[in-house]
Amino acid sequence: MQLTNFDTAAFLRDYWQKKPLLIKNPWTEWSDPLEPDDLAGLACEEGVESRLITQATASGGWTVEHGALAEERFGQLGDKHWTLLVQAVDHYLPGVAALIEPFRFIPNWRIDDVMVSYATQGGGVGPHFDQYDVFLIQGIGQRRWQIGPVCDSATATLPHDDLRLLTEFKACEEWICEPGDILYVPPGVSHNGVAVSDHCMTYSVGFRAPSRSELIGDWADDLIAEMEDDDRYTDPLLKEQDNPGEIRPDAIDALHKMVTEKMADRDAFARWFGQYSSTPKYPDADWGAEEPASVDHLREHLASGQPLLRNPASRFSFIRQPGDLLMLFVDGASFPCTDQKCIAFAEALCAQDRIYLAHELIQSDEVMALVTTFYNQGSLVFDL
Ligand code: SIN
Ligand code: CO
Repeated sequence: MQLTNFDTAAFLRDYWQKKPLLIKNPWTEWSDPLEPDDLAGLACEEGVESRLITQATASGGWTVEHGALAEERFGQLGDKHWTLLVQAVDHYLPGVAALIEPFRFIPNWRIDDVMVSYATQGGGVGPHFDQYDVFLIQGIGQRRWQIGPVCDSATATLPHDDLRLLTEFKACEEWICEPGDILYVPPGVSHNGVAVSDHCMTYSVGFRAPSRSELIGDWADDLIAEMEDDDRYTDPLLKEQDNPGEIRPDAIDALHKMVTEKMADRDAFARWFGQYSSTPKYPDADWGAEEPASVDHLREHLASGQPLLRNPASRFSFIRQPGDLLMLFVDGASFPCTDQKCIAFAEALCAQDRIYLAHELIQSDEVMALVTTFYNQGSLVFDL
């Protein structure tokens, strides 16, 4: 599915990370990629992250239940004031994964997942703000979206273990979203979506942005894993000092340098970040091929014109490094590419979710070694 009359450059300039935007049904032909029953089915599966939010009254009494849900639970819910939210539905349904494609003008490493919600009349998750950008695509039914002020970690929220709802929410703008409409909401902007039809589905194409604390903490963990215990502070030129209690500026300089010279290694950071950001959302999920395939077998399939498809649960990125080196990152691992054919393959793999390999790439042993690794670990599949 494609968007029509959507000016990407103008969107990035005027709205991305700046202000909300309602885009009235821009799809060439909008149709829901799944039914409410499919969503309920997913919420009953182990390993699928889901939440059921029910409200005792129209304005409060929020309860959150985490999946996997029992099938019988849906029969007990009634027809008002509840919503089911299922995370990463794109991992399981290619039709939902396709909803990300119009937004590929945002880099792969910024994309998180597509969450899908189903709500009954009056249902919603309550007024809140998110840390991330989101495109809220309306599916079946109608939802009233209200947009409020920008919030931050100092904004008051109601005491609740599972929900961070705003104590106070004053809407500045309000829209009724119809099937196919898209509401873009930047991080921090408070919003409240309430179903105003008996059945209401919303697809949230969500992004991610690492926090500074995550970056420092996780990179430091990675650096520490490589360090030796005898890599230590030394002071062979130690001089007598007036007060033994003083930590002298030259000691601070040397200590600080021990930390910052490691942190200043941009190439090491880039390699780490590529692996870190391409780690799957659910690293424990096993998508590996049941029977490992041989290079010859895969070569045969490719030679017959079969495209390779990226597993929507997999993550693909690359960085360019000096000396014509391209570092490819797939699902948390790095693959250095120096050979021109491997570089062409890596670029195609990161640019498209469906790859038709040219004859010369199929003939390359280096390219086929990568294809075989990715296929056997489940990052690439054939559309059989
Ligand atoms: C929803 O789909 O109900 C919630 C989406 C959101 O507000 O982030
Ligand atoms: Co939200």
